[in-house]
Amino acid sequence: MTGGIATVVGARPQFVKAAAVSRAFREAGLAEALIHTGQHFDANMSDIFFEELEIPPPKYHLGVGGGLHGAMTGAMLMRIEETLIVEKPAVVLVYGDTNSTIAGALAAAKLHIPVVHSESGLRSFNRRMPEEINRVVTDHLSALLLCPTRAAIDNLAREGISKGVVHVGDVMFDATLFAKERSRATSTIVETLALTGKRFAVCTLHRAENTDDPARLARLLDFLEKEAAERTIVFPVHPRTAKVLAASGRKIDRLLMTEPLGYFDLHRLLADCEIVFTDSGGLQKEAYFHRKPCVTLRDETEWVETVAAGWNRLWTAPSFVAPRRDIPDYGAGDAAARTVAAVRPLL
Ligand code: UD1
Repeated sequence: MTGGIATVVGARPQFVKAAAVSRAFREAGLAEALIHTGQHFDANMSDIFFEELEIPPPKYHLGVGGGLHGAMTGAMLMRIEETLIVEKPAVVLVYGDTNSTIAGALAAAKLHIPVVHSESGLRSFNRRMPEEINRVVTDHLSALLLCPTRAAIDNLAREGISKGVVHVGDVMFDATLFAKERSRATSTIVETLALTGKRFAVCTLHRAENTDDPARLARLLDFLEKEAAERTIVFPVHPRTAKVLAASGRKIDRLLMTEPLGYFDLHRLLADCEIVFTDSGGLQKEAYFHRKPCVTLRDETEWVETVAAGWNRLWTAPSFVAPRRDIPDYGAGDAAARTVAAVRPLL
């Protein structure tokens, strides 16, 4: 390909976002080459998302998974650069805040290829999070900054970035609309886990800030086990968390632990659950998209509008701060189409 879009993905939430946008690129007749860094490599962390969400197979699979941040990001940078030199795309599209995001943005910027950042402008204001470093650097390297919310635009303005900033809404809402329908028709997870007619919650926990601090992880598990007295808590365990839990030797009898779930199974659970407990960015909004309250297992959140609109609270907060109301920022399921419209002039 010479010209066109090269999209760098690597971690689970990026497959979800890319699914919505790649579909819109195809519908618009625009050429896209997918580059999968390999950051997430287990079948239930990667392949299942390509199958369920009908994402075309990546043109390149770089096979860089695991390792310390420097080694992982450095290996991605080398391999992405080589790939971009061959592909010669007109733009490089990156999503979110992972090591794959920063590696893609840096490789492209050094080759003078305009970077498009989807989910730009989010900030936790906590530089101890690897994701925050990835976001800030990626935004400062980007030519087109696609923001899911108004707050994201304000965050960029505070850092002196206004050129190339466009509010497109949240492509995860588009992905949720696709999944809602299909999951109802295809997923049997509620039956498989014997949850029919029961009150239950969905829980995920994988952020390094939680898993890599044993005292904090123990406090979170205590909190969750206490909440499990009220209802069953279904806990699909991310590989990072599984490793840490296995090493800690802590017995967790009160949570219903499963392998990582596919997108449709997760959305079926979200549709039928009572509440969500999570440290994931995506799930905080997916809870809202299913009109379910969320308790965020962190000390801050980038998705401040979910808190202001009464749908989300931090686990340390005593209660939700407002009556529940709609959040118009995320759009009407048209964020992928608006992304295409914003990218097209660069091609
Ligand atoms: C990454 C992102 C995080 C995002 C998350 C989504 C960074 C810095 N963090 O965190 O922002 O919310 O993805 O899940 O990029 N592993 C497996 N199998 C897999 C994937 C990972 O065993 O399929 C192992 C890795 O080898 C590693 C650990 O799990 O030991 C963590 O994976 P890693 O890619 O470092 O980051 P995540 O914690 O998934």
